Order: sequence, then structure tokens, then C-alpha cells
Amino acid sequence: MYYHRKKTTVYRKNSALRRFFNLPPILRVDFDKPVPHRQQFAIMGTVLVISCALFLCVYLFQMLYPTAEESTETPGASSTVTSEKPAEKKPESSVQESSAAPVRNVTSISSADKAILKNMTTVTKEADEVYKGALILVNKNFPSRLNGENVELVLDHITGDYAVSDYTVGFAVDMIDPFNKMMADFSEEFGETDILVSCGYRSLDTQKKLLMEEKELSGYGPEESESQAEQWVAPPGFSEHQTGLAFDFDLNLPNGGKVGINYDGEGDYAWLNKNCADYGFILRYLKDKEDITGYQYEPWHFRYVGLPHAQYIDDHHITLEEYLEMVQTHTTDNAILMKDRDGINWCIYYVPASDGDTTEIPVPQDYEYSISGNNMVDENGQGSGGFIVTVKIGDYVEEIIEPSKTESSRETSVNSSEPSVTSENTQEESSSQSSNEVTVIDIPDGESSQRVDFFDPLQGVY
Ligand code: DAL
Ligand code: ZN
Repeated sequence: MYYHRKKTTVYRKNSALRRFFNLPPILRVDFDKPVPHRQQFAIMGTVLVISCALFLCVYLFQMLYPTAEESTETPGASSTVTSEKPAEKKPESSVQESSAAPVRNVTSISSADKAILKNMTTVTKEADEVYKGALILVNKNFPSRLNGENVELVLDHITGDYAVSDYTVGFAVDMIDPFNKMMADFSEEFGETDILVSCGYRSLDTQKKLLMEEKELSGYGPEESESQAEQWVAPPGFSEHQTGLAFDFDLNLPNGGKVGINYDGEGDYAWLNKNCADYGFILRYLKDKEDITGYQYEPWHFRYVGLPHAQYIDDHHITLEEYLEMVQTHTTDNAILMKDRDGINWCIYYVPASDGDTTEIPVPQDYEYSISGNNMVDENGQGSGGFIVTVKIGDYVEEIIEPSKTESSRETSVNSSEPSVTSENTQEESSSQSSNEVTVIDIPDGESSQRVDFFDPLQGVY
């Protein structure tokens, strides 16, 4: 059967553009004629342009208002943070997750509400304080200015959960308690193990000898041996070990094995590489980040940076270089509000060092805080040297806008794994106390070989 369709034509005034392209008026529908190619192209082009515009709008919207979990940095984001924990997300890590490891919430950041930093006072820091603290960056650009003044012998604090390669192994005071806690939890999880700390603090002389030895072992000529060796061993003066804030793990194998190369962070030991961030430690030389750190992957080399920084660095699989780069874009005006894996809120901001002898650091009166230098000053005095303030806000951000509750937050006892976070008064007390207890470690070369359990601190240690 054939239906005769009534020819329907609607005309509108043709535009100049349409006349130029010889297009029919837009509202003319002529069912009897096939649509010309030029018209088809025009329609397809219009659809394409509209789609692109829509896509661009959605993309721009997401850029401006990312969700907390997606953002690694959200300087312009909304300052509203609730006490709700973010959706559970498996933290990224270079290490396989141990079946025993609990799933933790990933850290997230947003902009700190101005209310957090409203009740401020200032603390004065001397210029050389830029070189001190748990967040100092020591790499091939920024030398260590510490020489063991912040270090204590591990043997004076050792527990039964691990061994040290010899009695000279020293740690920065701040990291001893978190380290012992981590090893206690590891021991509880897996029973007695053969974990050994092969190296902590290193003197400049030890670093020199270590590099020389590595050059000889490299098997390359005098020119190339240096660059080869420096992929594993830091140039003297530029090793994190000189800060006392880094250590190497090894295994105490009964029948020997070369010291320094037995620990691979696999099997049961993956628990340590995976969970160290909860105690304030990071794996410093990551796989695939060699171009940033300047060193090959070292699954045995750990660095203390404290909480919540370690968790953020681990969750976002970034290096300390990348993290500090990010932090220094946040001053008091646009401080970071960071929610850690336990839902605890922290406020973090950077204060550039003044050109003079001292820097005035704004600090909140109502919250516990710690201040660390960043050491980002090169040998010529160039860089972005400054201070990072870490304020512990607490479980609920509501505390910030309800001043009556701030008193209780001041009374919050600080977790033993965060020894550096203290109120202003107690911080001054503890710093004067620790300066009385300073132990400068001078590793006596050769002397320790009298011990049966001695391991040459220079052998195979990085
Ligand atoms: N193995 C690291 C890079 C050091 O020597 O400090
Ligand atoms: Zn090391």
C-alpha cells in the first residue's frame, strides 16, 4: 500500500552564512528530496561542536571541583570538611599488600578553613633551624647540615623485636619510639624474625669510605665508576644517613650472606614496607622515581618524616621531593587541611625563611603543633628554604568552629608515634631537655670488629 505523504515545507528567512554554503533554510523540511552532502556535513559538524563544548564544560567543572579522593592538591577547593571518613580506597603502594594488612582509608587534602588559624601567635626560629626537623630534604641538591647531634644509640633503646649490626648504630631521637612500635607490631604479626638494622646514622667520613668502596666494587674505570656508584651511594655530605633520620634493613642470616643486600621487602617483610607509613616512615627510593630521587630502587632504605606526612606520601605514591614541592605552595593563607588514614585532621603550611637571622613563624594557640625546617637550601645558599608547620586538629573539624571544644583538643594526649607534636610550652621544654641529652656519635673505625656479631658498617650497606 502506498501512502501519499503531504509535502510539508516551512520557510524561514535564509541567513547570509546559509546562502554562502548554499544550505537550505533551517526549518525547511522537504521529505521528497534527499539531504545534500553539504547539509549532512553541516549537521554533523554542528553536533560535533556541541559535543566538544559539553565535554569541555564537564572537564572544566571537574577540574574546579574535584572530589577529595581524586585530588592530590586542591588549593581552591571548598573548605567544608565533615567528620565523615572518605570512601574506603586501597592505598597505592609499590609493595604488594600483605593479607594481614588492614584496609586503610587513603589520606585526603583540602583547603583549611580560615577559622583554624584564627587564634595565632608567633614563634621565632634561628636561621640554622631550617636544616633541622623530620621534614628536611637531603638529596644530591641539598646537603645534610647535621652531624649526629640529634642521634642516640639504638642499643640504648633496643627491644627484642630486632637486632642491630653493631653497637654504633644510631637513630635520630624522634624516630626511636615510632620505630620500636613498628617493630613490636611486626613481631606480633609474624613472630620472631631475623630483621637487622644494618645502618642508621652515618658520619661524613663513613659516607666517604662507603662511596670509595662502591666505586672500587663497580668494576668501571675512574671516570664512570663515580656516576655508577652514585646511583646507589650518596656523595659525601649529601646522604640522608647523615641526618640520623634514615636506616637500612637487612636480615640476620645465620650462615652469612652479604650484609645489606638480603632484605628485599618481600614475603613477610612486605608488611613493613607496606605499613611503615602508619608509624611515620616512608620508603625513600621508589621504583620508577629514580629520575626524581637520583637513586635506584632501594626496598631496604627507610626515612622518618612523621605523621601524617608519611601516610600522604605513601597513599599518593610520591617522593619526598614531590611532597615538599606541593607543601611549599601552601602558606598560612591557603593552608592544607589533611585528613589522615584514621580520620584525624591536620593543618599543614609552609613559612619561607626570612633573609635575616631569624624567621617569625605564625602558630595557632589552640592546637598542638610541630615545626620542621625543609633544608631546601643548596651549597650556594640558593633554594626555597623554609619551615613546615604541622598542626594536629583532631578527630572532628567541628572543633574548629566551636571554640568551647578547643580546650579539650589541647588536652588530647599525643600518640607516642608522633613525638614531635607538642604544645608550644612543652615543645620548648622537650627541646631544652633533648639538648641536654644530645649524643654525638663518632663511629670508631675498626673498633667494633672485636664483637662477634659485628658487621662491617661499610660492607654492602647503602
Ligand atoms: N644509599 C643512599 C642513597 C645513601 O647512600 O644515602
Ligand atoms: Zn640507606
